[in-house]
Amino acid sequence: MSIRGLFITVEGGEGVGKSTNLAFLESFLRDNGVDVVCTREPGGTAIGEDIRRLLLQIRQEEVCAMTELLLIFAARAQHIMEAIEPALAAGRTVLCDRFTDATYAYQCGGRRVAWDNVKQLESLVQDKLRPDVTLLLDAPTVIGMSRARVRGELDRFEQEDLDFFDRVRSSYLQQAKNDSGRYRVIDASVSLDQVQQQLLTVANEVLSFWHQRSVGS
Ligand code: TMP
Repeated sequence: MSIRGLFITVEGGEGVGKSTNLAFLESFLRDNGVDVVCTREPGGTAIGEDIRRLLLQIRQEEVCAMTELLLIFAARAQHIMEAIEPALAAGRTVLCDRFTDATYAYQCGGRRVAWDNVKQLESLVQDKLRPDVTLLLDAPTVIGMSRARVRGELDRFEQEDLDFFDRVRSSYLQQAKNDSGRYRVIDASVSLDQVQQQLLTVANEVLSFWHQRSVGS
């Protein structure tokens, strides 16, 4: 039986540079011999990517917060069953662009859905599955939003206002504070070079965590 892989998630608001920094982390881990699977939420499976399209699409009718929440967890259930659990069980390290902390930040913080609703769905859908390490790329909302806005057409979430994203950011920072053992907060407001310096420190920490797990089992 192989050693269970590490489950690493990367979180942050809009325009914090998740894609660039995820690619950086992925290649660092691969170069150091870690078998990495990169995936994302919502998405990561064919069904999940279909649900993602539905979630991001700008629609004429109002989307009920509960509909949004259940779609996110529907995609997540499929993602866990089809991709995340098999990879972890095979000893592969899963690097996931967003996971349930995004639901607490966007749906509870942003949309003001009750925390307990997410907690219940988290237990139902994930059972005991939680990330081992979570990287939070953090930048003041105005900086992130101005970066996101130059990328082109906005999706349904990106269209939200500054207050919404301030609540998302506060929720992420609060989660990081409440779970400081799992979280590593990276200041993403500085230059890419400086962000990657911080990322390298965390990546080395992840690597030694991975080595410990490999040796310890
Ligand atoms: P992305 O911008 O990271 O690709 O994610 C797509 C959007 O989905 C992003 O605006 C945040 C949103 N989202 C939620 O609202 N709740 C969630 O649980 C997840 C995973 C994403």
